[in-house]
Amino acid sequence: MLVLGPILDSQTEPSLWKRLHPSMMVRLLLAVVAGVAVLALALVTVGTPDTAQAAAALAETYDVTSPDGRTTVTVDVGRQLAYAVRYDGRPIVEPSRLGVVLAGSDTLGIEMEVLDTERATHDETWTQPWGEVAEVRDHHNALTLQLAETAGERRRMNVEIRVFDGGIGVRYVWPEQDGLGTFEIMDELTEFRIADDPTTWFIRAYEENRYEYLYERMPLSRTGHVLHTPVTMGYGDVDGDASGPYVAVHEAALVDYAAMSLRRVGPTAFQADLAPWSTGVRVYAEAPHRSPWRVLLIGDEPGDLVTNYTVLNLNEPNALGDVSWAEPGKYIGIWWSLHLGEETWGSGDRHGATTENTRRYIDFAAEHGFSGVLVEGWNTGWDGNWIENGNLFSFTNPYPDYDFEALAGYARQRGTRLIGHHETSGNVPNYERQLASALDLMAERGVRAIKTGYVNFGMNYPRTTGPGVAPGDTVMEYNTGQFMVRHLQHTVEEAARRQISLNIHEPVKATGLRRTYPNLMTREGARGQEYNAWSEGNGPGHVPTLVFTRMLSGPMDFTPGIFDIDAVRDDGRQINVPTTLAGQLALYVVLYSPLQMAADLPENYEPHMDAFQFIKDVPADWADTRVLEARIGRFVTIARQDRASDDWYLGAKTDGQSRTMDIALDFLDAGRTYTATLYRDADDAHWETNATVYAIETREVTAADRLAVPLAPGGGLAVRFEAQ
Ligand code: NOJ
Repeated sequence: MLVLGPILDSQTEPSLWKRLHPSMMVRLLLAVVAGVAVLALALVTVGTPDTAQAAAALAETYDVTSPDGRTTVTVDVGRQLAYAVRYDGRPIVEPSRLGVVLAGSDTLGIEMEVLDTERATHDETWTQPWGEVAEVRDHHNALTLQLAETAGERRRMNVEIRVFDGGIGVRYVWPEQDGLGTFEIMDELTEFRIADDPTTWFIRAYEENRYEYLYERMPLSRTGHVLHTPVTMGYGDVDGDASGPYVAVHEAALVDYAAMSLRRVGPTAFQADLAPWSTGVRVYAEAPHRSPWRVLLIGDEPGDLVTNYTVLNLNEPNALGDVSWAEPGKYIGIWWSLHLGEETWGSGDRHGATTENTRRYIDFAAEHGFSGVLVEGWNTGWDGNWIENGNLFSFTNPYPDYDFEALAGYARQRGTRLIGHHETSGNVPNYERQLASALDLMAERGVRAIKTGYVNFGMNYPRTTGPGVAPGDTVMEYNTGQFMVRHLQHTVEEAARRQISLNIHEPVKATGLRRTYPNLMTREGARGQEYNAWSEGNGPGHVPTLVFTRMLSGPMDFTPGIFDIDAVRDDGRQINVPTTLAGQLALYVVLYSPLQMAADLPENYEPHMDAFQFIKDVPADWADTRVLEARIGRFVTIARQDRASDDWYLGAKTDGQSRTMDIALDFLDAGRTYTATLYRDADDAHWETNATVYAIETREVTAADRLAVPLAPGGGLAVRFEAQ
């Protein structure tokens, strides 16, 4: 039997208190008297159930162990449904509740019994149409517990558990049944009572700028009240050699549900927090329904979290069939100039999206082999305060100085394509009204990918229909709630119907849905390069942190490739790109995205065509990925194998410290010679004072060699290994 930790927090759902056995109440009272320190230590067993039936259930625990035997999930179907996780025998998640609260403080997860169990072992390798790795092995042991309430309506809820090598998934399924038709989830009881007090990297949830914050690092017990996932944790000396294991909490397959963040309920204990609708309901559901998977990734090294495909494996297979039209690629665009303030989205003298300017970008793309040209500010609605006036955007009317039809034709003729842009300012009603015609227009013009955007404060997403809205009224929703999850799903499906891929900015976080909908190619959902144009900048530790936090959820459109690092904005301020030029090149390997931008202006690439060659060569689609060395927030070296050739690429990125990365090249094919072209920091490079100096060197190497290269403060290294 599992022993539940002290479920003695103010967040405890009231019906649980009401249903606790008197012996439990005595223990709770004693514990309260003894104070918080005693609470933390006290392990309180779940109260003895009243009925003989429930008493039998109390002893019922079920173990599911990973194929390699290292990770074990134990589920207890005692009075309170609970689970715990161990890794190599070491507790990672202490006994933690499972269940949901429905409307009327009606809990599913207490006093349930097992009707049936089903165990399975699954071992299958599937191929990604595009990705960071071509072949993904899905090897796990599974258990489904079919549960029913022991009394009353005997409503049913299943708990499904899958345990992989280095990952677990747990979800709820509400089967079709008489006692549960449409229902409202008011809270989810799933807890993560993390063992000990690991070092934690996190951003806070429910903040104005959605996911766009610098990651903080501190012991778990000192983090904020509500944290976005992925939350990443490391035990031991996380800056040294005696570190590990590493753990991340996230979710997979977020469909028709609210996104989960983690709300503190104890020093190192968190409960699933579902972003509520404006009505207070967290999820509107109708059985059959299921929750997303609650996911833990576990590994010995930080890199094990990155090359861990649990989140993808927990998503449904490709639902779109032939997706050869969802093509990875690199793009340029009328974009950085807008963030520098040199050009404008809106109309006027400095309008960026003019026919002439776009032709110039198309020519540059054609000359250098880019498959796409993004054009922002092509459509009417940008004039004035476009964030507040999202209802003014038209997604079919180009500005008069932008000849959409001619430019689309010109791009095709030159062997590239326009990339569409739909900034909605989060005004979903306005966008959904126009969605079909907007997508039809893009498809007609040969556009294969659209960047969408939802710039607004995180709790400011208007809704005009549905629950709790009177005709003519508008309510505001969170950008992480079920409303936005449903909207994004709708856009992905509508786009897929027209063979269009999406790059979603200000999105709901990624949860692996790209497996089911391969046209959902990439998204933002973190502080990207744009912050380096107009804020104090992301700082040199941001990228080595992102790789082990935000990037665990999926690809990111970070928009790398700024070469004019000393640029001065139109308003006279210096930009704040916290890397060297070689460091910018490294990002193409370090930060995975199937749509990868060369973000700087064509004229800023012209003086550095030798370094630009790396951006031209580097693929956006990979056969394999290896993390060669890393310390979270400090440095990371990743090697990836091209999917279309035998070449390998390497990216190394350091924080503000210089260091010499020294790695074995044993990832290369043995017995083969490679021409390695190194794009490295010049000896006197420094991100703050001398960012644009670099050296390019060529060497012949084999798998038996090592590569020792100094990285400047804020610097990086990019290497192409060309198979001979
Ligand atoms: C925010 C996006 O992240 C950025 O890339 C875009 O340029 C602006 N919104 C305008 O849509």
